[in-house]
Amino acid sequence: MRVAVIGTGYVGLVSGACLADVGHRVTCVDAVSEKIEHLRRGKLSIFEPGLEELFVRNTEAGRLSFTTSYGQALSGADIVFVAVGTPSADDGSVDMSAFDAAVLSIAEALSGYAVVANKSTVPVGTAERAEGMIRSAYGGDFNVVSNPEFLREGHAVFDFLHPARIIVGSASARATDMMLRLYASLDGKKLVMDRRSAELTKYAANAFLAAKINFINEISHLAESVGADIDEVAKGIGSDPRIGNDFLRPGPGWGGSCFPKDVRALIRLADRHGEALPITRAAYAMNARARVRIIDRLDRAIGGCSGKRVAVFGLAFKGNTNDTRESASIDLINHLLQRGAEVRAYDPVARLPSGVLHNGYELVHAGSVYEAAEGADACILATDWEEFRAMNLPELASCMSGNCLFDARNLLDSAEAMRSGLMYLCIGKPSRHSLF
Ligand SMILES: NC(=O)c1ccc[n+]([C@@H]2O[C@H](COP(=O)([O-])OP(=O)(O)OC[C@H]3O[C@@H](n4cnc5c(N)ncnc54)[C@H](O)[C@@H]3O)[C@@H](O)[C@H]2O)c1
Repeated sequence: MRVAVIGTGYVGLVSGACLADVGHRVTCVDAVSEKIEHLRRGKLSIFEPGLEELFVRNTEAGRLSFTTSYGQALSGADIVFVAVGTPSADDGSVDMSAFDAAVLSIAEALSGYAVVANKSTVPVGTAERAEGMIRSAYGGDFNVVSNPEFLREGHAVFDFLHPARIIVGSASARATDMMLRLYASLDGKKLVMDRRSAELTKYAANAFLAAKINFINEISHLAESVGADIDEVAKGIGSDPRIGNDFLRPGPGWGGSCFPKDVRALIRLADRHGEALPITRAAYAMNARARVRIIDRLDRAIGGCSGKRVAVFGLAFKGNTNDTRESASIDLINHLLQRGAEVRAYDPVARLPSGVLHNGYELVHAGSVYEAAEGADACILATDWEEFRAMNLPELASCMSGNCLFDARNLLDSAEAMRSGLMYLCIGKPSRHSLF
């Protein structure tokens, strides 16, 4: 089938490359011409394991191309995906300006029947609203479906090609049939439902997963107080198939481009409809406290952060991605800076954009954990990059001037850390593992 994808970010580029790889002819559009120029020159703008291989294979085979022209991309397209950003507005509602601009451009460029399939995470009722917007500018036949995306950054290619489920929210049998044909070669469960339910499913899934992380963090705090080991507790409860092991790792709370904004959007939606949504609200408030709790414990362990040098390992919101949007590392660094610490950081691929740190702080990006730790009083392991598991702890200890290592992802072996002379802190462990 012929496919147009609007937006070449994490969702659009991965979707485009994967759909090309399963045999469709895909043209991707972006409003930022430099991105398209980059992609045409064979350069990826995002880091995703496995994406480069798909990108090269499919551009060389002529199944994947890039343009800034909606007219070119939509010409003869059976399905037009919308995968543009829907960030939070200042009041926590969804900023729909990129989405609306994309829909208006689609309306101007349509020239025959196509399904407009929305992958952006949008408020309930958006498919109907988009339909109205297109209808007022285009007299031809078309349908709008909701096709929320569930891929995880860092595993996006795998998730797209092996989805647990594909949700098609549709009000048209013709559009449903085309969507199911498009995805026929993917083996995930196909769930067809109405468009509002599909739109709410995406928000509900993210809020549920976010709250699951908050729950294990909450129990980890209790574990610290009662002398239990949260990793054992997580194994114990996660072995129950009704609970499952995923999203039961304690840590600095969730971040990224989706959970924070989607939880905020769900709360705003509830506000508009007079619904209390207490679990989701509590999850949001508790997430911010998870960061503060880590810095409070570090502060006690090193006798106050003021004037101390702290190295932060990891800037991405999780391992295997260069995405730093609403990363816990940003909050951790800002809390450290507000308490008067000097901060250096190391991340294998991610860099912080300017303007996100307290008072315009110029962060030193080191070339390795050891370089970041040079002369540090304390280190915080903030992102679950696999390479941090293999850190040489005696070498780390010898670089530092202090000896405090806060493993905020529970990645390291506590006994080994302590044998290396480090004062090892982690989350939700009895005091023999973690002293503060
Ligand atoms: N990133 C994820 O893991 C993920 C997962 C599931 C769903 N989503 C949702 O998918 C959507 C896209 O997320 P993302 O992370 O890919 O965003 P992104 O910011 O990485 O990419 C969006 C792209 O859209 C382009 N764009 C903006 N306005 C445009 C327009 N009018 N015409 C053409 N291009 C335009 C931008 O230049 C950018 O390249 C969001 O709604 C997000 O919530 C994201």
